[in-house]
Amino acid sequence: MSDAGSEPERLLVRDLEQVATPSGRDAPLRGDALGKVEVLEDAYVLCEREEIAAVGRMRDLPALAEPIEELDGRGLCAVPGLVDCHTHACFAGDRVDEFSLRATGASYEELHAAGGGILSTVRATRAAGEGGLVAAVERHRDWMLRAGTTTFEAKSGYGLDRDIELASLRAIRAVGGIPTWLGAHAVPPEFDDADAYLDFALADVLPEAARLAEAADVFLERGAFDSAQARRYLEACRAAGLALRLHGDQFTEGGAVPLAIELGARSVDHLEATGPEGVRALGQSGVTAVLLPVSALFLDRPMPPARALVEAGAAVAIATDFNPGSAFCESLPVVCSLASTQLKLTPAEALSASTVNAAHVLSRADRVGRIAPGYRADLTLLGAPDWRYLAYHFGGPVVHSVVLAGRPLALG
Ligand code: NIG
Ligand code: FE
Repeated sequence: MSDAGSEPERLLVRDLEQVATPSGRDAPLRGDALGKVEVLEDAYVLCEREEIAAVGRMRDLPALAEPIEELDGRGLCAVPGLVDCHTHACFAGDRVDEFSLRATGASYEELHAAGGGILSTVRATRAAGEGGLVAAVERHRDWMLRAGTTTFEAKSGYGLDRDIELASLRAIRAVGGIPTWLGAHAVPPEFDDADAYLDFALADVLPEAARLAEAADVFLERGAFDSAQARRYLEACRAAGLALRLHGDQFTEGGAVPLAIELGARSVDHLEATGPEGVRALGQSGVTAVLLPVSALFLDRPMPPARALVEAGAAVAIATDFNPGSAFCESLPVVCSLASTQLKLTPAEALSASTVNAAHVLSRADRVGRIAPGYRADLTLLGAPDWRYLAYHFGGPVVHSVVLAGRPLALG
């Protein structure tokens, strides 16, 4: 990145093959609107300071006064900077041994029940200390940027004690992420049961976590927290001013959908096990369904009912779920590829689901997720002749570079 003081305040990205953006200004997008993407051929984007000032066809480009920095868009397509609304990017260590064991038959839930899984990452994360966590989130943020993500959420949930939960939230903030307190991710070994752990977390961690985080999240699943425990945790978090999110129906349909709707949660995430009644209820609710196809694929689980959710009128977002256990993948382009091949979303629906609707989950859809005047000048530039290569070039080096708040970033 070049020196901030020496940069012109305007950036013209010119001669782009295409600019593709979800239409309109509404959020979240549902039903047919999810698939409506506007495409301008032979186009420019003009950024002023941190915002988009104008978008148009090259033939309509007005004469612009100097000084202005120019970026040559020939051979490139611009889409909105991608928004990852569900990551667990604050962790230390890895789970590569477990990954190998799973290849020969051990299941994710068995490893978790045997004290591995999430709890093995808790041990590594506690040992890293705050400096180690800042370095880890920075590394993961840079991986995400290289994959075209310009806005990301990250959850705590690998500390599960006061110091490391709060250090995780501070580290996420320090590195530019949007922090979610996943205080109810697993029961740490020093507690006998989930209720005793929640007594501690709500009394000793929540007051400070509520100052650092924007939302709270819970893993509602057999072997983690049940529906009554999730309700207790979420109601306390809501009273402390946090927005609510849930990990629900990942392995079993356990009541997360009705609970999310009743409590007015921003999202319920996973939904691999959600049945028709949950789909119908989400379609009539204000809760966004966040689908995580990498984690379904990584754990060899069924895919969530994406098409049915869109057709029921639900607000659908897609995200990586980046974490060391169930989804060691930070790439939203890969998620878009899986959305099209596995979830049967069109590339246009996948784009809206990973920009506007993901921004809506993070309460930022008025600022990020579109290429239109007044939005933050976050662009993901694809090295491709057609923007749909975002989903089409499965696992390929499709992201050429990004523009972040009006500044071009060279990606190493
Ligand atoms: O969303 N399911 C719970 N939490 C994460 C996985 C975390 C981990 O395995 O470390 C998820 O898949
Ligand atoms: Fe997750």
